[in-house]
Amino acid sequence: MAHNIKWFKTIDSTNSEAFRQFEASDDFSVFAAEFQTNGRGQKGTNWESETGHNLTFSILLKSNSIKAEDQFLIAQIVTVGIKRYLKHLGIEAKIKWPNDIYIGDKKICGILIEHFLSGDTLSGSIVGIGLNLNQKQFRSDAPNPVSVSILTGKEYDIKEELESLAGFIYEIYYTYRNFSSGSTEDRLEREYHESLYRLDEFHKYEITRDGRVIEARIVGTDTNACLILEEEDGSRGSYHFKEVKYII
Ligand code: BTN
Repeated sequence: MAHNIKWFKTIDSTNSEAFRQFEASDDFSVFAAEFQTNGRGQKGTNWESETGHNLTFSILLKSNSIKAEDQFLIAQIVTVGIKRYLKHLGIEAKIKWPNDIYIGDKKICGILIEHFLSGDTLSGSIVGIGLNLNQKQFRSDAPNPVSVSILTGKEYDIKEELESLAGFIYEIYYTYRNFSSGSTEDRLEREYHESLYRLDEFHKYEITRDGRVIEARIVGTDTNACLILEEEDGSRGSYHFKEVKYII
């Protein structure tokens, strides 16, 4: 299926463009750029991407029926879609909670999601995705980047790959966009869980509140999108995004 993709040679940020065009756009409109002058990452960082080498795009979603309390579903749809796309390229990826995509200990894709709420319903979301496709060298202080091309030794056409990736995400979105809480549909939840980076393995984590470093294993996520960590003595804690740091 051909998707509604608007390409820009240069733009400040595809997330910002999706925001500006929100009212006039249909559900699952895609805004993509060869280069962003102000590509935004999580926690106020910049997103580095060489011109025309990678996928930098945003998907505008207007589902109208997902409850605000179920907003983590959007991250699950997108991360599982990206994981399936990479699998079709022959790459086994993991989801680093909440929504980074990792290959081993290296980051191949970052996601910045902005939600809009209307009462207790999600009225829209802008999902910004930066996927390293052809870039071979990274200059920024991003700790551990990798690209598809570094892994496969091939070069990719960004427009063809974006069509393909959008298709993987759309297929899942189409199934879940009318999701309501309590539904028995849990296949996506399971695939997200099974794909978690470091699932069930003991590693070090820093608790940001007090700087304490714990040795723990990820046992899952809860309905509030918190990460559940279990320490060696069996005690468990659940943490919001800013409350815990992976030590890699
Ligand atoms: C992260 O820090 O891991 C999130 C990176 C998200 C980058 C993408 S690139 C396309 C979209 N537009 C932006 O300004 N940011 C996102």
